[in-house]
Amino acid sequence: MHPRLDDDLARLPDLLDETRARAVRLLAGLGDRPVARTPVRPEPVPLPETGTGAAGALEAFARRWEPGFSAGAGPRYLGFVTGGATPASLAGDWLTAALDQNPTSGMDSGAPDLEREAVAWVRELLGLPAEHAGIFVSGATMSNFTGLAIAREWLGERHGVSVSERGTAALGDVPVLSGSPHSSVGKALSMLGLGRSALQVIGTLPGREAVDVSRLARALEALEGRPAIVVANAGTVNTGDFDDLRAIAALRERYPFWLHVDAAFGAFAALSPGHARLVDGLGEADSVCVDLHKWLNVPYDSAVQFTRRRDLQVRVFANSAAYLGTLGDDPDRVDPVHLTPENSRRLRALPAWFTLAAYGREGHAEIVRRDIALAALLGERVAALPGYRLLAPVRLNVVCFTPADRPERVGELVAAITESGEAFLTPTVYAGVPALRAAFSNWRTTETDVERVAKLLERLAAP
Ligand SMILES: Cc1ncc(COP(=O)(O)O)c(C=O)c1O
Repeated sequence: MHPRLDDDLARLPDLLDETRARAVRLLAGLGDRPVARTPVRPEPVPLPETGTGAAGALEAFARRWEPGFSAGAGPRYLGFVTGGATPASLAGDWLTAALDQNPTSGMDSGAPDLEREAVAWVRELLGLPAEHAGIFVSGATMSNFTGLAIAREWLGERHGVSVSERGTAALGDVPVLSGSPHSSVGKALSMLGLGRSALQVIGTLPGREAVDVSRLARALEALEGRPAIVVANAGTVNTGDFDDLRAIAALRERYPFWLHVDAAFGAFAALSPGHARLVDGLGEADSVCVDLHKWLNVPYDSAVQFTRRRDLQVRVFANSAAYLGTLGDDPDRVDPVHLTPENSRRLRALPAWFTLAAYGREGHAEIVRRDIALAALLGERVAALPGYRLLAPVRLNVVCFTPADRPERVGELVAAITESGEAFLTPTVYAGVPALRAAFSNWRTTETDVERVAKLLERLAAP
């Protein structure tokens, strides 16, 4: 064994203690350290020839890289849609690395069964019906990609061809209809060979990001019976708006389409009694995307892909090789290797399993309800500040606003907020207006944090 490895093996308990102590210090200071950093790259160093051992690596990381890292897991990181890591999920994540399972096949370990249990818990948490089979993927982009890959196979079935065998050319042009799709849908269509231009953006309701269902019906009518894919949106990134999922699902009585719902964070509305109606009908979808590194507050990376058509999923992702084991006859026990783009993969189900075991439905519902209330509070504060204008009502957990009469200041404001170290918000353009958005999905955020952000915005309002 290389002497450095030998040394590290001998002092592994100390090394883990030192790492733990560093993690504890970092987490204790999470609320105080600058929330975001303007990246400054340290001087590059060449590949170490002999290496420094793990203690040296820890020291070099702490000196060269850690100071430039954001407090992304902290309470005032409101950019993108970002969760933190609950204590239990962090413990689960550490064990994921320590155990280093590869839950790709069930030949050697119970890890795929733990993943099945975690999927069932997530499904139950969100109120999805048992007909939805799920599997862990790395994020909502991968979940959208996987769902749309199954949709593509379904289109093949409708046309009497197997796309997984014959390729996408067998399909011709495929209409994909959506009101306010996330950018990852275009990316998925590009990767799937359907092409970004397959996407037909359907008009939304006035002043909303929710699709106008009557326009969607007209677009489907115009297809004259050609099967299509509809991507419905449950929680848009700009304003947290929701399509009418039940009304869209009902259109399937008149038109043939696969209904995919991007509910990356919106699915968690089911945990708030006052908001559950927003996801009414979600279970009717053919495939559903749910992110877990957002509102479930597990560390990156983690999401689930749900579908009612596991048979089609297996057709797309089957990875048959003698050494990987067979598909088996039980659709509920297909090995993960046959269900996603990945082959070897991390047991990313374990942090999710830990947090659900530790806090249950009630604990996670409390996080969701608190974040929704905090978004509403920031919305009220912003609306009361003369320097800003809300661009949309706060429907769930996203506050979208702009500097009143001075939208051109958005870039400057985002930079000033980042520079302040107090908070992190991301820019966007909503209805043609440059804007800022604050998304609440972290388990640590409290009213005190909202008041700090509101004060900061007030301070920065003056040009
Ligand atoms: C609605 C929606 N879909 C998809 C994504 C992509 O998520 P990920 O970064 O996990 O791939 C996001 C990310 O914010 C999202 O909000």
